[in-house]
Amino acid sequence: MSRTTVPFTVPSFAGEVSDAVVKVLDSGWVTTGPQTAAFEQDFADFLGAPHVVAVASCTTALELCLRAMDLPPGSQVLTPSLTFCGAINAILHAGHRPVLVDIDEDTLVPSPETVAAAAARTTPRAMIVQNQGGYPVDVPALAAAAGLDRTRVVEDAAHGPGAAREGRPVGSESFAACFSFYATKNMPIGEGGAIATVDQDLADRVRAMRLHGMSKDSWKRYLPGGSWRYDVKDIGLKANMTDIQASIGRAQLAALPAWQRARGELVARYDEALDGLPGLTLPQRKLDGVQHAWHLYQVRVPERDALIAELEAAGVATSVHFIPASQMTSYRQILGAQECERVPVTDRVAEELLSLPLYPGLSPDGQDRVVSALTEALRARD
Ligand SMILES: Cc1ncc(COP(=O)(O)O)c(C=O)c1O
Repeated sequence: MSRTTVPFTVPSFAGEVSDAVVKVLDSGWVTTGPQTAAFEQDFADFLGAPHVVAVASCTTALELCLRAMDLPPGSQVLTPSLTFCGAINAILHAGHRPVLVDIDEDTLVPSPETVAAAAARTTPRAMIVQNQGGYPVDVPALAAAAGLDRTRVVEDAAHGPGAAREGRPVGSESFAACFSFYATKNMPIGEGGAIATVDQDLADRVRAMRLHGMSKDSWKRYLPGGSWRYDVKDIGLKANMTDIQASIGRAQLAALPAWQRARGELVARYDEALDGLPGLTLPQRKLDGVQHAWHLYQVRVPERDALIAELEAAGVATSVHFIPASQMTSYRQILGAQECERVPVTDRVAEELLSLPLYPGLSPDGQDRVVSALTEALRARD
């Protein structure tokens, strides 16, 4: 790639981050402690969620929530095939079996119909739903289609901060919504995740389970008057967030609303500039009552792989979200070819998906370069 390539993604960091990190380093307490608790409160306030538990990643958040459901080992768990491998791994690590759900091609997420079809061929005990690219799914409708109680639905909200449905932010009314603060996400920390829940018991359980299942974390044990004693009643993971990460998260959260506005403006510019290009389908719609988080700008185009190479040669980096689970070697071995053939819309649409650069730091000039490279490549095909 040439030096002047427009990157696919660049993380934004608020100016306050450096000072916040130095303060934590100077404080003498760097792992889970007061900053983590303060970040949890800040993020809960941002979402309007009753409880937030900060963890190491969205992947561990998904696994912790599934484990906390106490499902019988080997339970069938519905999941979109068009998802990140971490979500499938979370089901498998929790001891369960993924059941692949197809998508609706306009929204790129499962519809009540595709969920009902998958539920009819199995006996699902739980379901992961995913806010593909920042599109907030209708959780009650999908839960009803699966015949599952809301307490059996885990939301993969890795792309979800900033998204809302009927004015209700993703995570504000969830039994279990799992967020990611990975480097590429809308609110990057570098690594990190959070679980938002309306359920006090779930919050208490995952809070202990994020640190091996210990009844007290070290901050509580080492506080003046704290005791060294603890018990393990519920086997967990090593999945806590550190105070260094949390201090970054607090500074980042304050900047998030402005970054979301910037994403919205970039999307409007792309929409206007790309509308009507030959062969190009603009991103998922059905936006009535929906506040999209615009984590990704996903277009569809035939002969996508050739276009990726042409764009790269023109100095524009792109990506693909996602290679479906049904096409991955390990999952094919575990699930079998027959199960992997049950998501034909996903397999067809996934061949055409292309994610364009979209991040608050993308300059108008950078975006113009993406638009002209794409326009030239598509017009040359016509
Ligand atoms: C849809 C989706 N789910 C889960 C994850 C995993 O997030 P994390 O890296 O925080 O574990 C990602 C990250 O890329 C993702 O895109």
